[in-house]
Amino acid sequence: MPDRVVSPKLKEEDTSLDLSLRPKRLSEYIGQDKVKQNLRILLEAAQRRSEAIDHVLLYGPPGLGKTTLAGIIANEMGVNIKTTSGPAIERPGDLAAILTNLRAGDILFVDEIHRLARPVEEVLYPAMEDYSLDIIIGKGPSARSIRLKMPRFTLIGATTRFAMLSAPLRDRFGAVYRLEFYDHAAMETIVSRSAGILGVAIDDTGVREIARRARGTPRVANRLLKRVRDYAQVRADGAITASVANEALAMMEVDELGLDDVDIKVLKTIIQKYNGGPVGLDTIAASISEEADTIMDVYEPYLLQLGFLDRTPRGRVATRGAYEHLGLKFSEKTEQDKLF
Ligand SMILES: Nc1ncnc2c1ncn2[C@@H]1O[C@H](COP(=O)(O)OP(=O)(O)O)[C@@H](O)[C@H]1O
Ligand SMILES: [Mg+2]
Repeated sequence: MPDRVVSPKLKEEDTSLDLSLRPKRLSEYIGQDKVKQNLRILLEAAQRRSEAIDHVLLYGPPGLGKTTLAGIIANEMGVNIKTTSGPAIERPGDLAAILTNLRAGDILFVDEIHRLARPVEEVLYPAMEDYSLDIIIGKGPSARSIRLKMPRFTLIGATTRFAMLSAPLRDRFGAVYRLEFYDHAAMETIVSRSAGILGVAIDDTGVREIARRARGTPRVANRLLKRVRDYAQVRADGAITASVANEALAMMEVDELGLDDVDIKVLKTIIQKYNGGPVGLDTIAASISEEADTIMDVYEPYLLQLGFLDRTPRGRVATRGAYEHLGLKFSEKTEQDKLF
């Protein structure tokens, strides 16, 4: 994948940023009001009963704050959090080892939980449901299974692909929260907050400019802020105004909606090569030499959110908005053809 400044995927350069910018308490977590409201009730009820909270599933596009929220839940409950990810747990034994090391109330955070191997997932079912672990001892005909009791723990799963989760796994989560792209007001608050923590001089117009181009995604906002700060230090007097932000972002080829060359390539492929669609995701992926999974997780959610792309049973379709954004002529007739 090319080095995209607007990629919502976690990059190396984000890790140090994350440490200082990541909110630690629910009150610092900006936006996602519906999720926060529900979560507050869940947390308070568990605290009153002095119990571990229900298993929580967080889903939504990358960079919207799933990992952050898992950390916040642990902080608010005052418990330990152990972090791992679906692909990192290769065998059932690996998961059993992790589970047996948990103490009462602890949180196990499994990122990319849709990528858990099926046999591993099966160990998780009784653990989530009955807090017990079925372990096979020995090999061959003398093998037997024993059931171990384990302390009450909380599983927090995160995924970008809700639909890829198996139904039995999905059903075992007591609370399922979907994170949405952030609106402009929330994005501006996030940019201001981050600028404050990083000690960056920025005015309201600069905040607005960065927030507008950050794809409704806090991770992208933080990264853009950092890059624009660098630019401001070298090319301006260090302070970020709208015009400094504009110049910097134009240089990085991020357009006024936060689209970069890859997004544009996706749209242009559909419009120019496939007459606006419908065209299958795999075909688009092959045309621009990207992986279909990457397009689906990383590019498509924001293009759908902008209303530039539609998903139909026959494939992806570029909308009038996409044509207009690219300055291309949209004909009603093509639209009619697609319906029949
Ligand atoms: N609600 C929020 N308020 C402020 N900053 C946020 C919020 N959500 C995410 N962030 C910032 O965005 C970064 C990416 O969030 P993260 O939780 O890693 O996303 P995800 O796990 O969904 O990919 C975090 O480091 C944090 O600084
Ligand atoms: Mg994450």
